[in-house]
Amino acid sequence: MPTESEGEWHDLCPLAEVEEEEPFFANFAGKELMVVKAGDEVSVFTDSCPHIGASMVGATVEDGHIECPLHGACFDALSGEVSDGPTNQNLERHSARVDGDRVFVCLSPPKE
Ligand code: FES
Repeated sequence: MPTESEGEWHDLCPLAEVEEEEPFFANFAGKELMVVKAGDEVSVFTDSCPHIGASMVGATVEDGHIECPLHGACFDALSGEVSDGPTNQNLERHSARVDGDRVFVCLSPPKE
C-alpha cells in the first residue's frame, strides 16, 4: 500500500490495455505517459525519449527492454535505465502499482 510520503495515487488505465510487446500511452493531468509491462511488473514513464524529447509511440518491448522507434535507443523496461543507443540519459520514471485489474500511478512532485 502507498504511504503518504509517496504522494497521491491515480487510477491510470485498465491492466488489460497494456500489452506485453508494446507500451500503452495515456494522457493524465496534462502529462503524456507510457505504460510498460515486463513479466508481472508494470512501469510508468513520461512519454519522452531523452535523446531528442520525441514521443515513444511505436516503441516495442522485448526481453525486458523498450526500444525507441526513432533511432533505436534501448531502456530497461522496469527502471527506464538506458542500455544502448544515441543517448546516455534514462527515461523519467513514475511510481506505479497494480491494484486488481487497474494500473495506478503516482506522479513525481514538480521540481522547485
Ligand atoms: S528520439 Fe529516441 S532514440 Fe532518438
